[in-house]
Amino acid sequence: MGTRLYFYLSFFFLSFFCFDLQPTLAKFPTYNVTIINALPDEALLDLRCRSKDDDLGHHTPAFRQSYSWRFRVNFLGSTLYYCSFNWIHGHLTFDAFDNRNPKLRGACGYGDERICLWTAAGDSVNLKDYSTGTIILKYNWEH
Ligand SMILES: *[C@@H]1O[C@H](CO)[C@@H](O)[C@H](O)[C@H]1NC(C)=O
Repeated sequence: MGTRLYFYLSFFFLSFFCFDLQPTLAKFPTYNVTIINALPDEALLDLRCRSKDDDLGHHTPAFRQSYSWRFRVNFLGSTLYYCSFNWIHGHLTFDAFDNRNPKLRGACGYGDERICLWTAAGDSVNLKDYSTGTIILKYNWEH
């Protein structure tokens, strides 16, 4: 009787791990937002990214350098990071990651390694589709 109960309990917990935990983890994938400084004349990019409960502080990647961070999407699926960029010829504040925006999220890919690739260039700030390298979103600098 005890053995049988043990068997059922083990089966119950194993099935939990095999069938239930994996889809749950897949709902909270890890994203890596990478920002590349491609500004002309080796200009410095001053950037600051924040979410509701996270301030990543100021960073100034040099020409062709990047700044990146990783995170897991929260339980509610409401994860949103916005960034302020500043350089001598412009500034911009925009959403760098919004889990509720399929276009933004989709650009990062759907694999294990999801990378949201933003580039700060002289004419604009753009988001590339990570798998194809094509620009799918473009913001002009404000002056
Ligand atoms: C994000 O991905 C880039 C490109 O693969 C990598 O160079 C960088 O180290 C990653 N950043 C973090 C914080 O994992």
